[in-house]
Amino acid sequence: MYPDALKCSNRMKRYYFDNNSTTWVPDNILRHYLEYVNCGNPSNIHHVSGRLSAKAIQKSKDMIAADLSVAPLDIVFTACATESNNAIIQGLVHAHAAVKKPLHILTSCIEHKCVLETVTKMVESDNCGILSYDTVPLGSDGTVTWNAIKSQLRPETGLVCVMYANNETGIVQPVEEIGRKLRAMRPDIHFHVDAVAAIGKRIIKPRGFCHSMSFSGHKIHAVKGVGCLYIDQEASKKLMPLTFGGRQQVVRSGTDNTAAIWCMANALALVHQKRREKNNRLWRMRGFILNGLKRGGVQYKVFGSESSRKRQLENTLLIAIYHDTMCNLKLVKYLDSVGVSVSIGSSCNTKSAKASHVLNAMGATNADRRGTIRITMSDYTTMDDCKYLVQHLVRGCAPSSTVGSTISLGSRKNPSTLQTLKSSFRRNPSTSLSNWNGPA
Ligand SMILES: Cc1ncc(COP(=O)(O)O)c(C=O)c1O
Repeated sequence: MYPDALKCSNRMKRYYFDNNSTTWVPDNILRHYLEYVNCGNPSNIHHVSGRLSAKAIQKSKDMIAADLSVAPLDIVFTACATESNNAIIQGLVHAHAAVKKPLHILTSCIEHKCVLETVTKMVESDNCGILSYDTVPLGSDGTVTWNAIKSQLRPETGLVCVMYANNETGIVQPVEEIGRKLRAMRPDIHFHVDAVAAIGKRIIKPRGFCHSMSFSGHKIHAVKGVGCLYIDQEASKKLMPLTFGGRQQVVRSGTDNTAAIWCMANALALVHQKRREKNNRLWRMRGFILNGLKRGGVQYKVFGSESSRKRQLENTLLIAIYHDTMCNLKLVKYLDSVGVSVSIGSSCNTKSAKASHVLNAMGATNADRRGTIRITMSDYTTMDDCKYLVQHLVRGCAPSSTVGSTISLGSRKNPSTLQTLKSSFRRNPSTSLSNWNGPA
């Protein structure tokens, strides 16, 4: 169950299964945020409120560095992981452009849009003709292999990006192996890892296998608007900063958001406590959901692993549900009407919305795309939440299920929401999600 902040406005009980998109902030973490909302500017150390603010930032750096087993000087705070990823990509591109040195960038084909689109935009706006870009395809198990990367390296390759785990499928990539082999063969290449989906679910030690790694506060139960970048100090000297004129470090200038940073450092420490136990619980709940679907006669396919945890985030379940009349968009809307939040893997209206690049990379069929939903749990998800989810998934996917009948299911509970939903369906069956472009 979730605190008032996450209950929808009509006060329905909310069952939240969209934790790879964002997480809620529990009171014991929010407390840390509130402690520093009215602090001084951490750059102004001539009075006590500035000094306290600077101390909280230094302590946050120490905590995060200890968690990652890196030096505090290797930690840079940003506004989000999008910024962290941009700082690396744009930083290297601008540094190369300044001396007109060719740069070839290689990324996995399943990176987050903030990596893929940044590289594409950089290449499109490359006036010096120095940039080139390739993506590395997936193997049959949904992972990127070292051999696939090795075969696409060029003499001018200067940046390789592979995410730690995919945010849609939860499939964990062999980044340690890739990073170590890349370092042994081509120590000149910067290896960047987007660890947004994995941090908090895996204990990560980036030193020795990558030059930089990005994280986001709001995926680990801290507030939105704060991110973190681990960057090896030698590697940071080769980047052009995105912002100038402030007093933070080489990579990023600007006044730090002390409250959000302190909140994120404490959230990271908390999320990693008893990680193994929490992952065991999440895995049991994932199995419970799949068994419930099986027992309820729902036809489905799992993207990622159904039974092996070797390369699978325990909290993430991306499934295609096959049903004659129920597509993912209708199902998600039905679930929303009964208080359950999940996200869709793609729109059922494939003509008007782009299918997810990750599903495409995994060879999804039209039937897969039409039925894919993403269920993502957090450490606060309970077995009761899962029971409620399964009950409504099975009900929504019953052979005779239609949107009309499923919507009227909820009408006894909340006529006003229902009226709104019904009228929006009538106006435009794909309403607010028609431009949806893949989950965050
Ligand atoms: C894998 C991955 N990378 C990067 C991001 C961007 O993170 P932020 O919201 O902090 O910009 C996300 C957000 O969904 C993500 O899932």
